[in-house]
Amino acid sequence: MMFEGKNALITGAASGIGRATAIRFAAEGARVTIGDKNAAGLEETAAMMASTPVIQPFDAVDAESCRQLVAVAAKDGLDVLCNISGVLKWGRSEDFSLDDFDLVMAVNTRSVFALCQAALPHLVETRGNIVNTASAAALQGVPYTTAYVASKHAVAGITKSLAVEFASRGVRVNAICPGQVNTPMTQQTAIPEDIDWALVMRNAPKLLDGSCEPEDIAELFAFLASDKARKITGSLFSIDGGQLAG
Ligand SMILES: NC(=O)c1ccc[n+]([C@@H]2O[C@H](COP(=O)([O-])OP(=O)(O)OC[C@H]3O[C@@H](n4cnc5c(N)ncnc54)[C@H](O)[C@@H]3O)[C@@H](O)[C@H]2O)c1
Repeated sequence: MMFEGKNALITGAASGIGRATAIRFAAEGARVTIGDKNAAGLEETAAMMASTPVIQPFDAVDAESCRQLVAVAAKDGLDVLCNISGVLKWGRSEDFSLDDFDLVMAVNTRSVFALCQAALPHLVETRGNIVNTASAAALQGVPYTTAYVASKHAVAGITKSLAVEFASRGVRVNAICPGQVNTPMTQQTAIPEDIDWALVMRNAPKLLDGSCEPEDIAELFAFLASDKARKITGSLFSIDGGQLAG
């Protein structure tokens, strides 16, 4: 098993990609702490896992809550941090609320930094690693989701900067850039009418059945967090059915 005896913290684990990743890590022998603001969803995820996780609801907007989550997860040491919590808000840029901009940045970017900051001293101890969730939206502009795109470009920057800063202390930091994944996030309906969908879809997946399932992304989390990826740091991994291939 890939994670026998390893302690992993997985955020966003009440749903979608985070849930699939928590299930996958437990199946590979990890002792997993799962965090999310959706406590009921965490309970559902726990019931699907091969071993009982530590359940720690938290609010990514609140830095103290992020630090508390890491403290709980690292009680017996911490080997892996998977930052997966996130929010997507659609809107025309000319009337997108700055409160929503701040919320997206707080959940998708500021909390990622806060969680990394709290986890890094523990990861230095274990020569552990971080896998962040960026997006295809970290690598290109997407109309009507400017805040989300900015937040994910920032995750790419955090990932590469921390990778350089901590490489000599044995800590790896990578990020995954999923394209379209079938989760509640992509089924939301709060999308303005009359937007130019051709612009949004100009880089649709190219593969037959090119949109991903959460388990496809969980597989890449497991690989990058494992010793199989021991020479990989500071990298952004696309998994997008060829969305950005051309
Ligand atoms: N679904 C996609 O197509 C796609 C593509 C690229 C990247 N991503 C990224 O993957 C990650 C997981 O998304 P998903 O598709 O599984 O969506 P999802 O909506 O199923 O899961 C997101 C999780 O984040 C949690 N969350 C939201 N706000 C939070 C907060 N303030 N504090 C704590 N937890 C909070 C939610 O409760 C939810 O469980 C996100 O970072 C997302 O941006 C998704």
